[in-house]
Amino acid sequence: MRSPMGAAELAELVARLPKAELHLHIEGTFEPELMFAIAARNRVRLPYASVEEVRAAYAFSNLQDFLDLYYAGASVLVEARDFHDLTWSYLTRAHADNVRHAEIFFDPQTHTGRGVPFATVMDGISSALDEAEARLGLSSRLIMCFLRHLDEAEAFDTLDAAAPFLDRIDGVGLDSSERGHPPRKFREVFGRARAAGLSAVAHAGEEGPPEYVREALELLDVVRIDHGNAAVEDDDLVAELVRRRMPLTVCPLSNVRLRVVSGMRDHPLGRMLDLGLLVTVNSDDPAYFGGYVNDNYVAVAEAVGLDREDLVRLARNSFEASWLDASRKSELLAEVESAARNP
Ligand code: HPA
Ligand code: ZN
Repeated sequence: MRSPMGAAELAELVARLPKAELHLHIEGTFEPELMFAIAARNRVRLPYASVEEVRAAYAFSNLQDFLDLYYAGASVLVEARDFHDLTWSYLTRAHADNVRHAEIFFDPQTHTGRGVPFATVMDGISSALDEAEARLGLSSRLIMCFLRHLDEAEAFDTLDAAAPFLDRIDGVGLDSSERGHPPRKFREVFGRARAAGLSAVAHAGEEGPPEYVREALELLDVVRIDHGNAAVEDDDLVAELVRRRMPLTVCPLSNVRLRVVSGMRDHPLGRMLDLGLLVTVNSDDPAYFGGYVNDNYVAVAEAVGLDREDLVRLARNSFEASWLDASRKSELLAEVESAARNP
């Protein structure tokens, strides 16, 4: 039995807990104010008259609706400093939420497809990551996603383009339109990426079926599943995920905005915890979905009635599921325990 917390106590605990964010698309942190500022300095025209008009467009019926706007917004990013400013702006915002470590997705094909050199994207993002580590003590990893609506040959080209930067890239991921683009489509390129020393993750079971989660595990050899909501429909799959202690990076506000769940009260996070799944809470594309990571913890906890123990577990899970080395991991886990004990 859970004993849910009052609103003030809940917000205070969530703010106090150190956490890692493991499912965050850097292009999805593009706040309209920064989008307009960068569009102006690059003399790129946006199809919106104002920041308010952009925000008003953020009413999505599904994943594709969102992706159309997300790719349009990203098209104003041209120079390395644009990628730097975008990344820095996220990192300072995450720092304010007591995020101590972030594992960040980027979508190189969204930029190289428009003629932006891979090196420009890398320079901008990695200079901001270095600055955050030095100035904020916020560590990070970088995960290069392949766009699954494109073909595998293009993913191979992207992996080739990344070769000079593999010292700065920790993993590969799979994002964009899920239905009709199963993990098996990218089996070979994931094999090549793993052979090059990269860890693998994949979005699966957001709009797609449990079978896509199974394919990600068995064919792509992933070390985490991004979203994974559909897994709860399949008892055998849940048992396998629990047996492997396979992390799921769950994104509650995203799930509501993209109508993966019918409302926050129907979110499966509480059930996932009860099933013993190693779930984490993340913001996905916070500029588009109405909240950063703490907002996600609070919104789902209030709606499904999570208690203090659940919240501490979620913060603990975020570090356990991270790619931090063992000593940093145990340091941060100790900080979670101490934050949990000392109001
Ligand atoms: N799902 C798939 N692709 C994405 C997402 C998402 O939630 N965000 C950015 N690209
Ligand atoms: Zn995502």
